[in-house]
Amino acid sequence: MPDFRLTRRHLLASPLALAACGSAPSTPPLGPVSPLKDLAPCPVGVCGMSGQFDDAGWRDVVLTHFSQFTPEWEMKMEAILRPDRSLDFTLADRCADFATDNGLRLHGHALIWYSQGAEAFAGLDRKTFAADYDRYIREVVTRYRGRTVGWDVVNEAVAEDGDGLRTHHWSEGLGDIDHIRRAFDVAHEADPESILFLNDYNLENLPRKGATFLKLVERLLKAGTPLGGIGSQSHLDIDIPDGQITAFLREAGAFGLPVHVSELDASLRSDSRIDLRSAGERQARQTARVTELAQAFMALPPEQRYAFTVWGARDTDSWLRRDERDDGRDSPLLFDASGTATPLYDAVAGALASG
Ligand code: G3I
Repeated sequence: MPDFRLTRRHLLASPLALAACGSAPSTPPLGPVSPLKDLAPCPVGVCGMSGQFDDAGWRDVVLTHFSQFTPEWEMKMEAILRPDRSLDFTLADRCADFATDNGLRLHGHALIWYSQGAEAFAGLDRKTFAADYDRYIREVVTRYRGRTVGWDVVNEAVAEDGDGLRTHHWSEGLGDIDHIRRAFDVAHEADPESILFLNDYNLENLPRKGATFLKLVERLLKAGTPLGGIGSQSHLDIDIPDGQITAFLREAGAFGLPVHVSELDASLRSDSRIDLRSAGERQARQTARVTELAQAFMALPPEQRYAFTVWGARDTDSWLRRDERDDGRDSPLLFDASGTATPLYDAVAGALASG
């Protein structure tokens, strides 16, 4: 029995299908589209923040299409850690309750990040620094034990250009590798059931950074670190060569660990150069890259497909649209401001449904 939902959506109304016939759509796709979470054989995630919970349009997209939720900022130190290193879980609890109340898997993001925590940990003697580092991780993970399916334990450990690891207050306080291993060890002790991720960006965009990241994964695993998953943020550069994304995900998958496409978006902006291409040409490259990512993710064995997560529900929810360089026209996500599917919905739905 054919799946009419899929057939109707993909054969009659898909912008790509229509464009392929040389008749690009002049109006948005027909009616509601198939819920992504019904099409996909794996969790489909989205990020969000407590300030969106009362936005009906946002809730409609999230609760229709997604099965997993990542708090965009409220489970990070910036929301939890006070200057005296006491902990305030008000916003994090609100996010965890949203997930629980709506039957969404909850992915914790992010325990240790180079860009947060420096002020509160400044000037501490090593013993206090270490004790409070452990305490932060232990108390946060313990609080959500049994509610979070996984955690980004260390976020963005690799240097921007891929040449080694970042140095920062955590690495200076506890060691380049040791602060990473310590974070995973403490998190694992606090919640042995949680899948613990090393998460980073530009792994597909910059092969050198992807290679350094995977060398770090290998080093941590060889040292017996309870690293349980690989997170590739996938903030895609639409101008990278064909095949680069596939190559990275294939190498990442070779470790046999769950893989999380953790923060997918694909900006149409061309910040660094004059872009003479038409909007249609840029959108075609964007669709090609996102299709490649979703297909590479679906090429992983089912047990390694942790989740396919997009970094925002609608284009206007994207952090990219809050950037001062935004021109008000970027469409980096699967749904536009009105909650209507964009061509990236087709790209992702088509690939995830193939599983
Ligand atoms: O909404 C509150 C507002 O009520 C409050 O008055 C204000 C006070 O500063 O904060 C506002 O929250 C801001 C939030 O974004 C919502 O806009 C936070 O300050 C701000 O820090 C937060 O930025 C987030 C950023 O990470 C830092 O946490 C972005 O939303 C989020 O998209 C971005 O996500 C990161 C991933 O965690 C890691 N990978 C890269 C990705 C993009 O930078």
